[in-house]
Amino acid sequence: MAFIRGLVCRECGAQFDEIPAATCDRCLGPLDVAYDWDAVRRHLSRSAIEQGPPSMWRYRALLPVDPTDSIGDRTGWTPLWPARRLGEALGHPGVFVKNDGANHPTLSFKDRVVATSLAWARRRGMTVVGCASTGNLAHAVAAQAARHGFRAVIFVPADLEVGKVVATAVHNPILITVDGHYDHVNRLCYELAEAYGWGMVNINLRAYYGEGSKTVGYEIAEQMGWQIPDHVIVPMAGGSLITKIHRAFQEFIRLGLVEDKPYRMHGAQAEGCGPIVHAFQQGADVITPERPHTIARSLAIGNPADGRYALRTIRQTGGQGVAVSDDEVREGIRLLAETEGIFTEPAGGVVVAAAARLIREGHIPPDESVVLAITGHGLKTLEAVTDVRPQVYGPIRPNLDAFQALWDRIASLVTP
Ligand SMILES: Cc1ncc(COP(=O)(O)O)c(C=O)c1O
Ligand SMILES: [Zn+2]
Repeated sequence: MAFIRGLVCRECGAQFDEIPAATCDRCLGPLDVAYDWDAVRRHLSRSAIEQGPPSMWRYRALLPVDPTDSIGDRTGWTPLWPARRLGEALGHPGVFVKNDGANHPTLSFKDRVVATSLAWARRRGMTVVGCASTGNLAHAVAAQAARHGFRAVIFVPADLEVGKVVATAVHNPILITVDGHYDHVNRLCYELAEAYGWGMVNINLRAYYGEGSKTVGYEIAEQMGWQIPDHVIVPMAGGSLITKIHRAFQEFIRLGLVEDKPYRMHGAQAEGCGPIVHAFQQGADVITPERPHTIARSLAIGNPADGRYALRTIRQTGGQGVAVSDDEVREGIRLLAETEGIFTEPAGGVVVAAAARLIREGHIPPDESVVLAITGHGLKTLEAVTDVRPQVYGPIRPNLDAFQALWDRIASLVTP
C-alpha cells in the first residue's frame, strides 16, 4: 500500500496533488511529500521493517512509491560499524561510520535519491530524466536510467573529476558539460525542466528525490539498535541530506519506533565552499552565495537550495557547522583509509576532519556516540589524493637481488 497523500508546502502548508514541481506557486516554499501518518502507524512496526529486504525498500511505507516500484531494488542497507581504530586516532571511544561509499550501484548515497525519484517518474510515464550534478548524482542517474530504460540528459560543471565523468559516460547518457560551476548548471536545468517537461530529479522531482535521503537516517537508527545516536556529522552541498536524516529521526520518534531523545546534527563543508557553515558562524539567517574553490567538488554548491533548512536543522538540534581546509580534507581521507580500510571521496574527508575538530574542541564528549556519514567512494576522485598518495616503491626488476637492494633501504618500515 502507498501512504502518500500528495505534496505540502513546507512554508505555508498549501496542499497539492502529486505533481512534478519543487516549489509552492503561492509562496515559493519547497514542497514536501505528505503521508497518511495514521495509516503508516497502523502498518509499520520494528518487526515488519526487520522482515523487509536488506535494502532501502524495507522502509517502503515511508517513501513516495507504490508496492510494485522496483527501481534501485538493491540500493541502501549499507554498513554501519563501531570504528574503533578511527576512534582511537581521534581520541573518542564512541565513533561509528555509516558507509554509503558501498551503496549499490554507484557507490554514493545518491543511489537512494535516484531510486525514489525515478520510481515516481516511471509511474508518471516520463521517459526522459536528468539532473544538474556535482558528479555523484550524474553517475547515479546515468546508471539507473540505463538499467530501467530511461533516456538520460545530464548536466555537470566542465571541470569535474575525470573519474566521475567517465563513470557517468560509460552508461551512455546524453552528458553535457557546462562552463561555470554547479550553480550555473542548476539555473540552466531549472529552465530546461520547465521548457522540455523532463524529469530532472533534483529540480522538478526534488520532493520525491529528497525522500530517498531519509533512508540514511532510518538505517542509522535501526543499525544503532533502534536508537538515535547522540551526534551525526553530515557533509552538506545543497543541504538536503542533513535535513532528511533529521526528518527520518523525527518520523521514527513520531511512529514510536525509537525513543525520543536529544541529538545533535552537525553540518560539515569545505572552507572553500562553506556558505551554510559561514552563515551558521555569523549567526545569520540568510545564506550568502559563495564562489566554490575546493577539492571537495561534490560539495561545491555556492548557493544551496536547502541551505536555510540545513541551518535550521543544525541550530534546532544544538549542532555545529564546521568548515575545513583542503589539507584537512586530504588528511581526513588518509586517516579513514589507514584506520578503517575505507577509501572515501573528499566529502568523507570533510566529515572525518570535522569530527576531529568537534572532538578536539569538546563538542562531542567521550561518553556520547557519534555517527560519521561517509557518503561516497574515493575511486571516483583519485585527483584529490594523488598529490600525497600513493607511496609506492619501485619499479624494481623482477628478481631477488633487485628486491634485496630496495629492502635494505626500507626494511625498517616493517620492523618495530
Ligand atoms: C558524496 C556526497 N556527499 C554529500 C553530498 C551533499 O548532499 P546535499 O546536496 O543533500 O547536501 C553530496 C551532494 O552532491 C555528495 O555527492
Ligand atoms: Zn507555500
